[in-house]
Amino acid sequence: MIQAPRGTSDVLPDEAARRELLEAHVKRILGAAGYERIETPVFEDTELFSRGVGEATDIVQKEMYTFTDAGGRSLTLRPEGTAPVCRAYIEHGMHKLAQPVKLWYLSSFFRAEAPQRGRYREFWQVGAEAIGASEPETDAELIALLAELLGAVGVRGTRLHISSLGNPETRAEYREELKAYLHAHEVELSEEVRSRIDLNPLRAFDSTDPRTREAMKDAPKLLDCLSGEDAAHFEAVRTLLDDAGMTYELDPTLVRGLDYYTRTVYEFKSSELGAQSTVGGGGRYDRLMERLEGPPTPASGWAAGVERMLLAAGELPTPPSLTDLYVAVAKPGGGPTAFQLAREARRAGLRAQLELAGRSLKGQLKHADRLGARYVAIIGDGASTSLKNMESGEQRELSTPEVIPTILRGSRLS
Ligand code: HAM
Repeated sequence: MIQAPRGTSDVLPDEAARRELLEAHVKRILGAAGYERIETPVFEDTELFSRGVGEATDIVQKEMYTFTDAGGRSLTLRPEGTAPVCRAYIEHGMHKLAQPVKLWYLSSFFRAEAPQRGRYREFWQVGAEAIGASEPETDAELIALLAELLGAVGVRGTRLHISSLGNPETRAEYREELKAYLHAHEVELSEEVRSRIDLNPLRAFDSTDPRTREAMKDAPKLLDCLSGEDAAHFEAVRTLLDDAGMTYELDPTLVRGLDYYTRTVYEFKSSELGAQSTVGGGGRYDRLMERLEGPPTPASGWAAGVERMLLAAGELPTPPSLTDLYVAVAKPGGGPTAFQLAREARRAGLRAQLELAGRSLKGQLKHADRLGARYVAIIGDGASTSLKNMESGEQRELSTPEVIPTILRGSRLS
């Protein structure tokens, strides 16, 4: 039997209804702040991610679905949305528009990770990007918007972690300092961390190995080495959050899995999620545009996992699906009349369904009841139809053209 590939899942109607609610919150909250929707292709040139996300990241090193197409091009299923949005910004000359360009997306992404609760190979993200915005207010506003979205969706037990990564030059100096520290403590580090000291020393802070974690407690922290301007920017973001009454944890070891960040970085974690506790995260990426050969453009943004948000939200009420009219057929030749009546009812703004499974009349009435239909029209032999009000139980014979006006009048009365 063929099954959905490992790490993927079907979105069945109940789940789809919850996602529609989530999407409505996204549109309302981000729309009110002037963000507009963008969608980019599901696959891109592999180079976009190796350059954008960064050669040394786990994503690029081992998690990308990469294939060669018939023309010999290397393509990759998008593992994230920020590099594609920047590519689109450059490709469409959006730097000529009034800045910042504020965009959001709700799309599927692909990472070849070991599947577990909250971690999938195909997953969905809501993302927001403010491109051409250098002010600390941008970062604070984005954080507040993500907090508002998580609140609206009902995500429980959230904690905000923030930090600053400064600029690449400071970071290069800091990297050397950290590498020296890691080499001096090699015996205390896990094999994995030790093998990556020179490639990606920052990831040592991410390790779950107890001895490594212990050794990292006294490691030098980037937050203590920021340049004056970067420190001032971070201070301004923090003051804005403080003034807005937002609580957060200053987390100097916060490491994001993508290489493009500068200055502010943050993550929202939820206590409802177990090991994969990050519901959403992001930060500023002032140098990414240049890495993609675009004009130097400061930018900031975040993405939140749809599956994780819904997991951490627990049960959401799914809106009942409502039917105004169920068109049943009493006698075999009634099909065409029923078909017409259902179409006309929909044109008149009613939610109307038609018998499609060849049930007996009794079966049809039972099905209409199951659907919660307010009315059932039972088509007789041509001109006459019996209309039943399912709430009151009352039933009337009338001519078929009278059915829709009668229902519309009825719904106005109730
Ligand atoms: P990210 O932290 O890699 O950031 O992903 C953002 C969110 O996507 C995570 O917090 C998590 O909720 C969800 N997520 C990531 N991987 C998986 C997975 N395998 N299964 C389920 N959910 C997952 C980014 O992708 C950046 N592009 C965010 C950003 C936007 N930074 C600036 N702008």
